[in-house]
Amino acid sequence: MKSKGRILITGGLGFLGSWTVEEAVRRGYRVLVVDALTYAANPENLNSLKVRFVTPSRRNVWTMVTFGRNGLAEHVPVHLPPYINPVDNDFLDEVLEGFFHSDDEVLVVLASVEDYPLMKVLLKYVEGVIHLAAETHVDRSIEDAWDFVRAEILGFYSTVDAFRRVRGREGRFLLVSTDEVLGEIMEGSADEDFPLRPRNPYAAAKSSQEHFAQSYINTYGTPIIIARPTNAYGPRQHEEKFVPKIIKNALLDEAIPVYGDGTQRRVWIYASDVASALMDVYERGEISEIYHIGSEDEVENLELVRTILKMMGKPESLINFVEDRPGHDRRYSLRWDKIRELGWRPSVSLREGLRRTIEYYAKRYAKGYSVRR
Ligand SMILES: NC(=O)c1ccc[n+]([C@@H]2O[C@H](COP(=O)([O-])OP(=O)(O)OC[C@H]3O[C@@H](n4cnc5c(N)ncnc54)[C@H](O)[C@@H]3O)[C@@H](O)[C@H]2O)c1
Repeated sequence: MKSKGRILITGGLGFLGSWTVEEAVRRGYRVLVVDALTYAANPENLNSLKVRFVTPSRRNVWTMVTFGRNGLAEHVPVHLPPYINPVDNDFLDEVLEGFFHSDDEVLVVLASVEDYPLMKVLLKYVEGVIHLAAETHVDRSIEDAWDFVRAEILGFYSTVDAFRRVRGREGRFLLVSTDEVLGEIMEGSADEDFPLRPRNPYAAAKSSQEHFAQSYINTYGTPIIIARPTNAYGPRQHEEKFVPKIIKNALLDEAIPVYGDGTQRRVWIYASDVASALMDVYERGEISEIYHIGSEDEVENLELVRTILKMMGKPESLINFVEDRPGHDRRYSLRWDKIRELGWRPSVSLREGLRRTIEYYAKRYAKGYSVRR
């Protein structure tokens, strides 16, 4: 297939990142990924693609690892892949040239987006960026938000400023934000002009990205678009998140923690629908605009647990009400008319998405995968 262009996707070894990388490759892009390989990343998430990995094995020393399609065998640990041939930093340019002349689909650079000099090198090779790299678990941000400040704020600043300096007003930069920046919406739904009212440290860090993005649009004319997906679920999501946790605990016949009385309401969207929305916005969204990515599947948390248990043939006695998360938003709800105008609609119903997700986790456990921390 003729290449549609070159794109950098940050956080591409995570949940939504990996779905977005797959969607970009499917649409004909050559993809660079930068991922810091935190606990939330998994190189196996890109197993369906032809991927090449580059890793700095120590300061200023680069290492290249090539894996073919499905090349990350099951016995390869989920942390740093093994490496060959330590090389010096100049080799990065050579590696990038080599990748774009190869038939590999994805080059994964195992590094942090906070590495500003690195980001400036990578941005010479792409026309656009989809920025997903982030810390994403609200509970962790409530315990301690330092990692969120680093990943979201320093990481975004490094990426967007490197983009401004290397690409100027050319190309496209899609920032993936979240509906959580709007805070809880008790009545009706919020459109893209709704004010930012973050109510937990994760949402505050994501809001900070949006403020920087707006300032860069205004000050430098940086061609940024912002997308705000609602709650996503699907295969490959880390087991600390709500839907995989319900499924995992049900598979293991363990108690399923439900915060408070379980009446919090969320709108759910399947991962492949988020990925197609992000790519549609990246390709056809208007520069400097915000796009909400929603669905019609709004349910109470408790109802969602009950639905999953029923689909899995497990008893409701597994439900265990626990003390509510501090500052827990009771409801999020987006209006998403703008993205409809781009011709996008979600295509996977909640029931079908849950069926696929349950099947995925059931297979993982059946294969003897241990639960990741
Ligand atoms: N999952 C959702 O429901 C949802 C909803 C709305 C928005 N989002 C946003 O989408 C993005 C992806 O979310 P997810 O659920 O896939 O997250 P995830 O936690 O599954 O993956 C995050 C990825 O980012 C990487 N990362 C973290 N810090 C990094 C750094 N400093 N440099 C490079 N890589 C780094 C991690 O290694 C991981 O691979 C996030 O920006 C999140 O805020 C997610």
